[in-house]
Amino acid sequence: MRIDIITVLPELLKSPFEASILKRAQDKGLVSVHLHNLRDYTDDSYRQVDDYQFGGGAGMVLMIEPIDRCISRLKAERDYDEVIYMTPDGTTLDQKMANSLSLLDNIIILCGHYKGVDQRVRDTLITREISIGDYVLSGGELGAAVLADTIIRLLPGVLNDETSALTDTFQDNLLAPPVYTRPRAYKGLEVPPILLSGNLPEIEKWREEQALDRTREKRPDLLK
Ligand code: ADE
Repeated sequence: MRIDIITVLPELLKSPFEASILKRAQDKGLVSVHLHNLRDYTDDSYRQVDDYQFGGGAGMVLMIEPIDRCISRLKAERDYDEVIYMTPDGTTLDQKMANSLSLLDNIIILCGHYKGVDQRVRDTLITREISIGDYVLSGGELGAAVLADTIIRLLPGVLNDETSALTDTFQDNLLAPPVYTRPRAYKGLEVPPILLSGNLPEIEKWREEQALDRTREKRPDLLK
């Protein structure tokens, strides 16, 4: 899979892809992530990417021209399955959406900034608008990092058996069961004996019950 991210703040997006699972996925050749500085697609000496909004009002708006130029150059190289715009008024990201996006070959993610982008970008260049939740970020960059992370960890070969995505919270619409590690007892707090029993079918049954109990208690909406 290839992910191209268009941003005015590429420095904000470097570190998430330079550590741990996201780095390993790239080193293994399972995904390539390319950051594009929108200012590189301007043609004036100020490298201007934004301007005041027509009609007045506070906040700058990202202009269509550099965005169109950047997306057109990318599209001239290869086909893209989706051109995604990160915005608080997009469809809220969930595990189901991440699962389906992880099946694609090439995607572009455009990060908004300031007051957002010229509406004509959204009308003509964007195929999907995604929000990471009902709150407003300073820009789409952190949202793009969240989106890329949820997608990349689902790609075949990225996670090993131990960290398999199949046992994640939200897979099957259930929260994950509680987990424990050494020591067996800490300041009088014991690990549930079933987990030390070695009885794998019983352990599996216990985990399923715990997942269901936890979901009923914390997120009953998932069971509807
Ligand atoms: N940009 C600003 N807020 C955002 C959000 N909640 N999700 C995605 N992009 C955003």
